[in-house]
Amino acid sequence: MSGTVHLVELREGGSQDLYSVNNIMQEAFDPRFGEAWTSAQCLGMLSLPGVWLVVASVDGEDVGFALSRATVDEVELLLLATRPSARRRGVGGALLRAVIEEARGRNTVRVHLEVRSGNDAVQLYRREGFEKVGERRDYYRGRGGQLFDAHTYARDIADLT
Ligand SMILES: CC(C)(COP(=O)(O)OP(=O)(O)OC[C@H]1O[C@@H](n2cnc3c(N)ncnc32)[C@H](O)[C@@H]1OP(=O)(O)O)[C@@H](O)C(=O)NCCC(=O)NCCS
Repeated sequence: MSGTVHLVELREGGSQDLYSVNNIMQEAFDPRFGEAWTSAQCLGMLSLPGVWLVVASVDGEDVGFALSRATVDEVELLLLATRPSARRRGVGGALLRAVIEEARGRNTVRVHLEVRSGNDAVQLYRREGFEKVGERRDYYRGRGGQLFDAHTYARDIADLT
């Protein structure tokens, strides 16, 4: 596959994509950490005002998604995931930038997110301009009941041109 360019296609998703989203979620999130949502949680969230889904596909296969919520002048990135087989090819970054662009289009000033302490995703968030702004102790509950801290990251977007 080396040398082959795989274009990442992004589309706005909806409840019709929940099957795909759930498949990606089950593959992407390690159950040890309790970060994944159930399908019912996703459906409930999608029905709320200000919530939107972006789905990423490569060669016609859905490989990633981002779920976000706008409240007043801020956006929260709720979930970001890429199938393990499609990682490190820019899918997560493309989704994140699409969320920032949409957030800006909605005239919000800031994007924030919670990420488990120790998650490699932090490197992606930092690369895309996010900075750590807080910590939440014992935010995630893993399958075995073990608790994990969350770190809050944020990026101001009002100054984007
Ligand atoms: C975080 C996640 C969405 C990144 O998706 P992706 O499609 O691989 O993202 P990209 O290819 O755009 O960028 C990956 C960047 O993240 C960082 N990164 C991701 N995984 C990494 C790892 N195992 N080791 C080191 N850096 C890593 C690197 O900076 C990497 O860039 P590089 O490949 O140029 O070095 C994906 O790893 C994932 O689904 N993780 C599980 C779910 C999750 O934890 N989501 C975030 C919390 S909601």
